Amino acid sequence: MPLLDVENLTVTLATSSGSAQAVRNLSFSLDEGEIIGIAGESGSGKTMTALSLMRLLPHKGFATGSIKFSGKDLLAQTNRAYRDIRGNQIAMIFQDPMTSLHPMIKIETQLTEHIRHHKKISQESAHLKALELLDTVKIPDPASALEAMPKQFSGGMRQRIAIAIALACDPKLLIADEPTTALDVTVQAGILRLLDQLRREKNLAVMVITHDLGVLSSLTDRIMIMYAGSEVESGLTSDLLKNPRHPYTKGLISALPTSSISGKKLLTIEGMPPELGQIPSGCAFHPRCAYAKTSCESQIPTSISISTKHRIFCPVNPLVSS
Ligand SMILES: Nc1ncnc2c1ncn2[C@@H]1O[C@H](COP(=O)(O)OP(=O)(O)OP(=O)(O)O)[C@@H](O)[C@H]1O
Ligand SMILES: [Mg+2]
Repeated sequence: MPLLDVENLTVTLATSSGSAQAVRNLSFSLDEGEIIGIAGESGSGKTMTALSLMRLLPHKGFATGSIKFSGKDLLAQTNRAYRDIRGNQIAMIFQDPMTSLHPMIKIETQLTEHIRHHKKISQESAHLKALELLDTVKIPDPASALEAMPKQFSGGMRQRIAIAIALACDPKLLIADEPTTALDVTVQAGILRLLDQLRREKNLAVMVITHDLGVLSSLTDRIMIMYAGSEVESGLTSDLLKNPRHPYTKGLISALPTSSISGKKLLTIEGMPPELGQIPSGCAFHPRCAYAKTSCESQIPTSISISTKHRIFCPVNPLVSS
């Protein structure tokens, strides 16, 4: 049984022109200790997918379908029951670590309050746990760091502290939404190595969300590509990056700086992703797709298996011989 099993997840949000679907019929699963990457252009529904797992959707937003976590149906839990799951079994870090950190409160207080909110332990045990957590995320001199304020740390160190808070209650799943986008490349590499180490040492399942496929190549086991709220392709990382089959995935990969260095012909994706509430009929990607046929305007693509764990949502499958 996978740790996380999402089936036909649809997220509906309220917009000024009525309700609209930000995530549409999304299905994926994640095993313990596995890292999945979710990629796609801005607005493809990556964050809304994550927030529906945390049950933190915007006001009037709601999720339908099924989200099973350790066999438990998350959408069926009461708000009260969910408070035990969020932060405890499923934790999340954000692009801006200050989303998780209060700027005016000492690191020690932030960590120990979070630990004691979820676990009935003494202040002294919480202090020891906080020291251990800062050591786990490789903050130099954890004892002094506990006495400091968030503003005294660099962006990379703040993200490590946010990860420490997320790990405080030994979650089984860590969701990282653009965790390194705001950081420079060397600091980014350190955070990615840390996530990889945590998965191995703690058997932590990790969901990494990014618009940058390059970030995922060395870190993830599997990748799912989203477009306009739906999956277009998913597969084992090396399979998907070496042998992308959906024109959208191919476009994203060709746009990576490394693709141009290798001298391959660049395949750019013309046009812009659709606005929420204006998703094209049939295959949502068809207006931008160089391979689209008339049938793509009306037929909603279904999953086509390419190989074990590699599937695409494109009946035209145009890149099969390229
Ligand atoms: N609070 C909100 N109310 C209404 N619509 C929203 C809200 N937040 C996001 N959206 C819309 O929902 C869709 C999906 O947004 P989401 O934030 O999940 O995209 P994303 O893939 O995470 O993009 P990015 O890479 O920019 O973070 C977008 O069209 C976005 O404009
Ligand atoms: Mg986002």
